[in-house]
Amino acid sequence: MDNNVRPETMERITTPELARKFIEEQIGILRAQIGDKKVLLALSGGVDSSVVAALLIKAVGKQLVCVHVNHGLLRKGEPEQVIEVFRNQMDANLIYVDAVDRFLDKLAGVSDPETKRKIIGAEFIRVFEEEARKLEDIRFLGQGTIYPDILESADGIKAHHNVGGLPEDLDFELVEPVKLLYKDEVRVVGKELGLPDNMVYRQPFPGPGLGVRCLGAITRDRLEALRESDAILREEFAKNGLQGKVWQYFTIVPDFKSTGIRDGKRTFDWPVIIRAVNTRDAVTATVEDVPFALLQHITSRITAEVPGVNRVLYDLTPKPSGTIEWE
Ligand code: XMP
Repeated sequence: MDNNVRPETMERITTPELARKFIEEQIGILRAQIGDKKVLLALSGGVDSSVVAALLIKAVGKQLVCVHVNHGLLRKGEPEQVIEVFRNQMDANLIYVDAVDRFLDKLAGVSDPETKRKIIGAEFIRVFEEEARKLEDIRFLGQGTIYPDILESADGIKAHHNVGGLPEDLDFELVEPVKLLYKDEVRVVGKELGLPDNMVYRQPFPGPGLGVRCLGAITRDRLEALRESDAILREEFAKNGLQGKVWQYFTIVPDFKSTGIRDGKRTFDWPVIIRAVNTRDAVTATVEDVPFALLQHITSRITAEVPGVNRVLYDLTPKPSGTIEWE
């Protein structure tokens, strides 16, 4: 049987009881697979990798080594929060790697979305290999792959960093305990594992991070505009009761400029695109009906506070015909 195919008999995990059953089963499977070896985990701070971390901590305790790679494509404040939650609050074995320049240098001038994903994925693996070599007896690589990643990779829609682009000399065996779960099930499991609500109900964030939202070839200035506009959007959604209600919301910065006017002078700056969608499993999605007054307020904040931006647009497209991300 192909172990990347969800069996038809597998019940959807919707209750704490079903989550407990899943957790118990996984603990057994993980212990049998890992034995007394060590596992290196790519801990992004998102729901998926956080749930995998919590599962692995339950199953193999200190044999888990979490690595948080700052690839420069994370949201504002995110690396700091990962350190606070996992190192300070959960007492996890956490290694923080600042790889910002390394990733951005590799991505310079690369505009094709799938090539960008592959570069980010391959570089990730290289960073992990380097960390693994510094440690002893690392045999396994833990990953927060979920079922939609597998389905879409199989369809050839896109290559996800966590299932594609592994170098041939890779010497890790993969540990992917939530790979047959949909996002909603991962959250139920995370809650049952005792993870804090702000982690369990956090909106999903793609592995390639802001890299697929800074359209075309990534530049540091547009990346900064993206990070700042995303922070404003998140702040305003939180203030206005939309955090936890809207499934995923973020900004996008395209690689073209338009004419505008500021202080009586002509500007030639980037637009910021806002995307806010609801979905159950990310396979289809609808657009959130954000109050117009709030969109206007966010627009005035972004154009006033983010250097290099003179317009804000709202994406009205459901999935299909658009995907959730723009690349
Ligand atoms: P799309 O754009 O395919 O996104 O409608 C569906 C969900 O998947 C996330 N996404 C990714 N996650 N690596 C990831 O780990 C990726 O390359 C990737 N691309 C999209 C997206 O944010 C949405 O939640």
